[in-house]
Amino acid sequence: MAYESTRGWVEQLDRAGELLRIREPARTNLEIAAAADQESKSAGGGKALLFEKPVGPDGQEYGFPVLINGYGSAKRMAMALGRETVEEIGEEVGALVKAKPPAGLAQAWDLLKRGLELRHARPVSTRSGSCQEVVHRVNEGGKGLGEIPVLKTWPKDGGPFLTLPQVITEDPETKERNVGMYRMQVLGSWEAALHWQLHKVGARHGKKYREMGQPMPVAVALGGDPANAFAATAPLPDGIDEYMFAGFVRKKSVAFVPAVSQPIRVPADADFVIEGTVDPQGEPVDEGPFGDHTGFYTPVDKYPRFRITAITHRKDAIYPATVVGKPPMEDFWLGSASVRILMPVLKMNFPELVDLALPAEGVFHNLAFVSLKKQYPYQAFKLMHGLWGAGQMMFTKVIVAVDEHVNVHDTSEVLFYLGANVDPERDTIFIKSPCDSLDHAPSVPNVGSHMGIDATRKLLGEGYARGWPEECRTTPEAAARARELMARAKGGR
Ligand SMILES: Cc1cc2nc3c(=O)[nH]c(=O)nc-3n(C[C@H](O)[C@H](O)[C@H](O)COP(=O)(O)O)c2cc1C
Repeated sequence: MAYESTRGWVEQLDRAGELLRIREPARTNLEIAAAADQESKSAGGGKALLFEKPVGPDGQEYGFPVLINGYGSAKRMAMALGRETVEEIGEEVGALVKAKPPAGLAQAWDLLKRGLELRHARPVSTRSGSCQEVVHRVNEGGKGLGEIPVLKTWPKDGGPFLTLPQVITEDPETKERNVGMYRMQVLGSWEAALHWQLHKVGARHGKKYREMGQPMPVAVALGGDPANAFAATAPLPDGIDEYMFAGFVRKKSVAFVPAVSQPIRVPADADFVIEGTVDPQGEPVDEGPFGDHTGFYTPVDKYPRFRITAITHRKDAIYPATVVGKPPMEDFWLGSASVRILMPVLKMNFPELVDLALPAEGVFHNLAFVSLKKQYPYQAFKLMHGLWGAGQMMFTKVIVAVDEHVNVHDTSEVLFYLGANVDPERDTIFIKSPCDSLDHAPSVPNVGSHMGIDATRKLLGEGYARGWPEECRTTPEAAARARELMARAKGGR
């Protein structure tokens, strides 16, 4: 199922009892973010919140409502992608890559790309789009970003930040499109800082434009079908168009129109589109501080200045936002959906891989739990090295490997085996690796070490000659009889 706009998505959330409308005025300065933080930590991720009367720092009322925590539960994440469950999409991806088992990760991605094309997920062109119902150009004056209820989410943030943007760029040579979710700090009515981190595709495109000395056209879409923003977060390899992926997920191609002021195409269904350029000779600007996914403030750093040339929007646009910080938060559900959907691609390359979880406490890159079917000595280490070599998994600081029967989605169960099965000196490995730019722990930004902990049962070939002990488990008959006895006792019969 596809949604024609954020409004269509909000109506669906409302019908499903998943939306809370806040009709009283609420400030974009901290208040809306604090409400979403509290809600996302309530049972099951709480509800999506629609703030109908956002109010700016000077008391000004905005003309657009704010949707936040829209993706913030397993149910809403699946609804956002127009499905009953996210696993359903993973199964479809599995069917695509199983057609011809690939010899490596690159081949697996290639198979997925060709599969997506065959599924008629290719973006299409259209002549007009609702995203351009209203057009504001920089030379006409106007409030620019000041019209949009952009949130300041934490007290020491350097200003208001757009937190769910789909940042669209093109490779200047191949013209391949990339869409990444990179936050944007508002610097002025027609100016922002673009936070594409060092390792991301937007940064690679930016470097090419700089080297070629050409101004870089950039478009930032907000809203539209919620599958679009999800696709912008998915760790797809360079070369797979995220909007093609969104088309596959929602079973309907994404339609595009030419931007009004830049030579770039934009999704016709977006609620807002912000168009502009990055100057190849321009000095980078201070970006931050920003209360980040990590639960800490990321300090000020240098990022490209985005000069806005036009802002277009729907007449009835809704501004989508999120707040990131100490987990669990809305971003956990976006990250988990990527893992569930892309797992078949990883499994194709690592046949021993049974399951993988990025627990909320690890905020994406700090912690991964993997279960595997171990056949030979050091296979857990082999799997860890493979995962560290797989795209954005390279950022994973600590990987804990457990046997196939362990439920990696149950952190308590994983911790039990971590404690029970590990001889720390024998079972840990350390590697040097690029690190996530947000990670404040390494002594030098962007580089550091990663650790792998093998919490599987050990084999003779791994130097364990004592005979691994058997786990205590009662018989199925005794367990069944116990359940009956207890049920009767508790029921008073
Ligand atoms: C809510 C949210 C905000 C994000 N903000 C940023 C950001 O500011 N900068 C960044 O480089 N990545 C950010 N990410 C992660 C990227 O969106 C993600 O790594 C994506 O796969 C990058 O796309 P790319 O591989 O096309 O560069 C964010 C993710 C989420 C879910």
